[in-house]
Amino acid sequence: MNIISKFRCISCGREYNIKDMIFRCACGDLLEVIHDFSKLKRKPGEWKRLFEENMDKVAFLRYKDLILPSLPDDKVITLDEGDTPLYKANNRLGKFFGIKRLYFKHEGMNPTLSFKDRGMVAGVSWANYFGVKDVACASTGDTSAAMAAYAAYSEKIRGIVLLPKGKISVEQLSQPISFGTTTLGLETDFDGCMQIVKELTAKHPIYLLNSMNPIRIEGQKAIGIEMIHQLDWEVPDWIVVPVGNAGNISAIGKGIREMYELGIISKKPRLAGVQSSSACPLYNSYTKGWSDLEPVKAEKTVASAIQIGNPVSFRKAVRELRYFNGVVEKADEKEIMDCKAFVERNGIPLCPNSAVAAAGALKLRNKNIIKEGESVVIVLTAHSTKFSHAVINYHTDSTNKYANLPIYIKPTLSEVEKTLNLKQ
Ligand code: F0G
Repeated sequence: MNIISKFRCISCGREYNIKDMIFRCACGDLLEVIHDFSKLKRKPGEWKRLFEENMDKVAFLRYKDLILPSLPDDKVITLDEGDTPLYKANNRLGKFFGIKRLYFKHEGMNPTLSFKDRGMVAGVSWANYFGVKDVACASTGDTSAAMAAYAAYSEKIRGIVLLPKGKISVEQLSQPISFGTTTLGLETDFDGCMQIVKELTAKHPIYLLNSMNPIRIEGQKAIGIEMIHQLDWEVPDWIVVPVGNAGNISAIGKGIREMYELGIISKKPRLAGVQSSSACPLYNSYTKGWSDLEPVKAEKTVASAIQIGNPVSFRKAVRELRYFNGVVEKADEKEIMDCKAFVERNGIPLCPNSAVAAAGALKLRNKNIIKEGESVVIVLTAHSTKFSHAVINYHTDSTNKYANLPIYIKPTLSEVEKTLNLKQ
């Protein structure tokens, strides 16, 4: 396998060998992966043909020449992630959102029930390529679950996760524990865990697998590529993404930007990032004409996976949002949970973080920023079942708009019939 990729600093432009185990430029800013696709000498139509021919392969391998062409196939550690459903909204959802061509790209249908598996197939495979023994991440719950699973499956890599104690769901906590990963709960928030894991991996030969590692971002590009492939290469007008640490929106943007530059697609979608009102530094920057990041203290929110006040990939996200004529919206707790409940009533199980994106899409439509006739894909980042407490809390409070309370009755047929208003 020829190496056709390198690291480049997004700020000073300094370049590094892709085989260097580094996560930041000497100047302190983020690195990104640059691929010299010209070396593959492929015309736009040939790319599409290649993807069609590789439909029987797992998504990461099918799109690997666009994602991480310098990684040898035999180093890939995959749990069959990807090929997630792209649901078309039913009529009721179409009406609710006021959008005729509405889709949900359900990344919660991945092996560990979140989009993080897309990044980990790349990140853990790259760690495997390096031959590292230990990988680590800070997490609000989903990154740690994914990293733990891939490390465990590899049989040779030890996972170490740093979690903000008491700030992630029980289901999320259960994942790294069950995968045998060393699970550390720290008396701090995500931003605090992130700081320590950066110091830990700078000091010891431990491979950092947060999204500040640019290899992770490459893996997550697959979400946008696969979505457009599923739409038969018809680029949607909008892609709406929930934002926490801002890695995912950067990844989806980068993948689609590269497809556009290679001529695989000939239209740019618009990007919309949505944050919880409790943690919205990117939104604040957007409303001030993309002003510099002002970190905030992230307040408690039902969207706990995006309770992040100092997003690491802020600058990458702003770059992609500007390139794609993007916007940023925010949603409060009630907007998030009502929207989640309504979407779920239609059979689509989305987590509160994903519901932030859905609520944002609804608001953007109501403000007529998204137009009725435009096509929209909302990226759902994790499965509802990872956050069951949010469901139970919502539905057991009868004051909530779409509450569906369980009914507890005596165990007799007549009680069931009475409750269902059936003739006895
Ligand atoms: N949705 C879910 C379900 C997440 O877990 C995350 C991030 C996001 C959205 C936001 O993505 O950070 O790339 O902007 N979770 C990270 C974690 C921070 O540790 O699992 P982002």
